[in-house]
Amino acid sequence: MIENLKKLEHLIGRTPLMKLSQGRCNLFVKLEYHNYSGSIKDRAAYNIIEAAIKRGQITEATRIVESSSGNFAISLAMICKQIGLHFTAIIDPNINSEYEKILRLLTDRVVKVEERDHTGGYLLNRIARVKQICESESNCFWPNQYENPDNYRAYYSLGYEIGHELELLDYAFVGVSSGGTITGLSMSLKEYFPKIKIVAVDVEGSVIFGKPPKKRNISGIGSSQKPEHINLAMIDDVVHVSEQDIVQACYNLINDHAIFAGASSGASFAAISSYLTTGTIKQCDNVLFLCPDKGSGYLDTVYNPSWFLTLSASPLVDGTI
Ligand SMILES: Cc1ncc(COP(=O)(O)O)c(C=O)c1O
Repeated sequence: MIENLKKLEHLIGRTPLMKLSQGRCNLFVKLEYHNYSGSIKDRAAYNIIEAAIKRGQITEATRIVESSSGNFAISLAMICKQIGLHFTAIIDPNINSEYEKILRLLTDRVVKVEERDHTGGYLLNRIARVKQICESESNCFWPNQYENPDNYRAYYSLGYEIGHELELLDYAFVGVSSGGTITGLSMSLKEYFPKIKIVAVDVEGSVIFGKPPKKRNISGIGSSQKPEHINLAMIDDVVHVSEQDIVQACYNLINDHAIFAGASSGASFAAISSYLTTGTIKQCDNVLFLCPDKGSGYLDTVYNPSWFLTLSASPLVDGTI
């Protein structure tokens, strides 16, 4: 099994770093959508599965069970396919139709939780379902990206790559959901660039940084629960971005830089714009952000003008990562 997993190793990480033409600072973007299954979550999924195989927690008879309606589920599904493991994805009705089709294509079992929990979302019921399956069936493994340290450890490699690609870095803007990326990346970048400022980018309505919950409509960023490892992250500032600003920034990325990216990329770009407007970022500063996934999964939402008009009336999206 580990030999088959290793066949994917060279397809994950070492993503392209692009310098954007932008006169207001030196702006760099790491195109994480070049990972094997199309998103940054391949790093976490690979590391979690590899570590669990090495510890003997996963054998050939194991079924992986995880609550995710987004990139993490697709990463797990592709990796499980490659190494011959069964995978159960626990999703909810807020999943976008393209992701649901991909998951049904890649896995033998997709469980859709239809009942909302007491918060009005589905996350708590999805996690309860994972636990129920793991208790009632033998040989299950729950990657548990919100609490598993192998999630954030996966992002040391991202810091290593950036540390060898750039001589100086003053700011890194990082979108947050399970907190894995910012925790591992901040630990690593602070070693290469001791003076760097790490800016966490979250969406309004997410509770990760202690703000009250609010209806959210955009997936891939934010969470309705605080991830365990975020306390270890070395964060200098937090920016909350509105959904409207995220959409605008996604269009700006297309129109100004020919980058067709997902919502969390737009969120970081919006946060950088606000730092530029206030003069916090200076012209000589070296600034980096990530593009965790492509825009294709957001054609019905972020890139759909009629969806944008109904933003305030649409349903809660929670934890669709
Ligand atoms: C598109 C996208 N951007 C950013 C993130 C945030 O990454 P993390 O879960 O490591 O905080 C995710 C997580 O799923 C994601 O799917």
